Amino acid sequence: MKKIISMAVAAAMSLAMTAQDVQITLHPKDAKTEIPKEIYGQFSEHLGRCIYGGIWVGKDSEIPNIEGYRKDVFEAMKDLEIPVMRWPGGCFADEYHWMDGIGPQENRPRMVNTNWGGTVEDNSFGTHEFLNLCEMLNIQPYISANVGSGTVEEMAKWVEYMNSDTNSTMAQLRRKNGREKPWNVKYFGVGNESWGCGGNMRVEDYAPLYRRYATYARNYGKNVLCKVASGANGGDTHWTDYAMKNIGDQMAAISFHYYAVRDWGTEDDPVTGIPMGKKGWALNFTDQNYYEIMSQARNIESILKNHVAAMDKYDPKKKIALFADEWGTWWNTEPGTNPGWLYQQSTMRDALVASATFDIFHKYTDRLKMANIAQVVNVLQSMILTNEKNPSDHCIVTPTYHVFMMYKPHKDALFIPGEIQCQQIKVNDNEQVPEVSFTASRDKQGVTHVSISNLDLHKAHTVSVTLDGITAKGAEGQILNSKDIHDYNDFGKGEVVRPAQFKDAKVKDGKLIVNMPAHSIVTLALK
Ligand code: AHR
Repeated sequence: MKKIISMAVAAAMSLAMTAQDVQITLHPKDAKTEIPKEIYGQFSEHLGRCIYGGIWVGKDSEIPNIEGYRKDVFEAMKDLEIPVMRWPGGCFADEYHWMDGIGPQENRPRMVNTNWGGTVEDNSFGTHEFLNLCEMLNIQPYISANVGSGTVEEMAKWVEYMNSDTNSTMAQLRRKNGREKPWNVKYFGVGNESWGCGGNMRVEDYAPLYRRYATYARNYGKNVLCKVASGANGGDTHWTDYAMKNIGDQMAAISFHYYAVRDWGTEDDPVTGIPMGKKGWALNFTDQNYYEIMSQARNIESILKNHVAAMDKYDPKKKIALFADEWGTWWNTEPGTNPGWLYQQSTMRDALVASATFDIFHKYTDRLKMANIAQVVNVLQSMILTNEKNPSDHCIVTPTYHVFMMYKPHKDALFIPGEIQCQQIKVNDNEQVPEVSFTASRDKQGVTHVSISNLDLHKAHTVSVTLDGITAKGAEGQILNSKDIHDYNDFGKGEVVRPAQFKDAKVKDGKLIVNMPAHSIVTLALK
C-alpha cells in the first residue's frame, strides 16, 4: 500500500513538473526604471511604398484620405499611439535636400532615389507633410538630417525653418508655406549609417564632422534639441567607444542599427529544397530557419550589452542615451515586387521576434531610451501593408502590429525585473533559444502587466510566475496565436492572425499560472 502511495506521489510530482515546466520569478521590489514609451517608436523612409502609397496618396487621390494621408493607414497609425517616428531615412536621409520638399507641390523638383530602386521621387511629401502628420497623430518627430551629401548650412537652415519663431528669413519662408508656429522638433539625427550609405566613413572621420554639423544645429526658443550621433553597425563597439570618447560631450544620444537577418547564401534549404535567396523568405521557412532567426534576433541582447558597456566607460551616470533607431526582420523582398522597395510579408514568426525583442529592450531602459522598428508601412517588418495591385483595397495590419498593441501597457510603466528557468532549444552547436521569453511592468495606476511568449514551435508550456508580493486575485488579457507559425494577414483573406481574449490564466497561492500554446504571445493584467 505504502509503495502504491509513494508511486502515486512521485507520479503526481512529475506531472506537476511537466505541468508547470517554466518558472518565472518577479522582483517587484527592485523595480526602478521606467520603460520609455519611445522604445515603441516607428521609422518611415522614402523607400518603396512606405511614404507614397503607404502614408501619402495626395489630396486629389481617389483613395480615401485625410489631407492627403491615406485614411485607413492614418487610422491604424492612430490606434497604435505611436510615440515617436523617424524620417526621412535611412539611407535616403543622406541624399535628401529638404528645400526640395517645401512650397507648392507642383513646383517641387524631382530626384532619383538612388538608394531604393531608382524610383523618381516627386517630393510631394516633405517637411510640412511629415511634421503635420506627426502633430495630427501626437507623434514626436525624429528628423534624420543629411551629413553625407548636404552642407552644414543646409542642415542649420532646416532646424531654423522647423523651430524658429522669429522673423528670420527661414521662419518667414515657413509661414509663407502655410505654417505659422514652429513645430519645435526635438529629436535630431546628425547623419544615418555614416559607416555605410551615409558616407562610408570611419568613425575617426565621422566624429570631427559630427562636431561641426552638431554645432550649428541650434536650439530655438525653449526647445532643446536632442542631438543623435549616427552610431554603430550592429555590434561594432569600436564605433561607440570612439564616439563616446571624442564627441560624447556634444551629443544627447547615439544610435545603433541591428536587423534580424541571416545570410543563407543562395543555396537551397537543405531540408525543403526551397531556394533561400540570401536572406530567406518571409513566408516559406523551416522550423530550423525559425530558430536561427529567433537566435539572431535575441542576439541583440549581447550587442546592446556591449554598447552599454562602452558607454558606461565614459558616461557612468548614463546621461547619454542609446537609441536602437532601426531594428526588425529583413527577408528577401516578396517575389514579384521591386527588389529595391523591400516589401515583405509578416507572419506569426515576425510577431514573436518583436515580442522577444521588447522583452530584451525592457531590461536595458536605464540606457536604451528609444527604438524604431523598420518600418511603419510596406517596408521590412511593417505594422501596416497596403495592396500594390489594388491600391483602393483596405489596408491590413500585420501580426507585429498586434504585438505593439498588446505591449501598450508597458509604455511608461515601471519595469519589474525577474528571472526565468526553462529549457533551451538547441539551434546548432553555438546557438540556443529559450522555450519562453517574458517581461513585466507596473503601470501608473499600480496594475502589473506580464507578457509571456512561448517561442517553442511545437510544445505548449505551463508557466508559473512567482509574484513575490504582488497582490492579485486573477489575471485577464489577450493572446496572439495562430494554427501555423507561417500564418499571416493578407488582402481579401480576412485577419487570420489577431489577438483574442485569453482565459487560460489564474492566480493561486501567490503565483500566476499560465497555459501557453505553442508559438503564442500573451499579455495579462493582474487584477
Ligand atoms: O531600413 C532600410 C535601410 O536599412 C535604411 O535605409 C538604412 O539605414 C539601413 O541600412
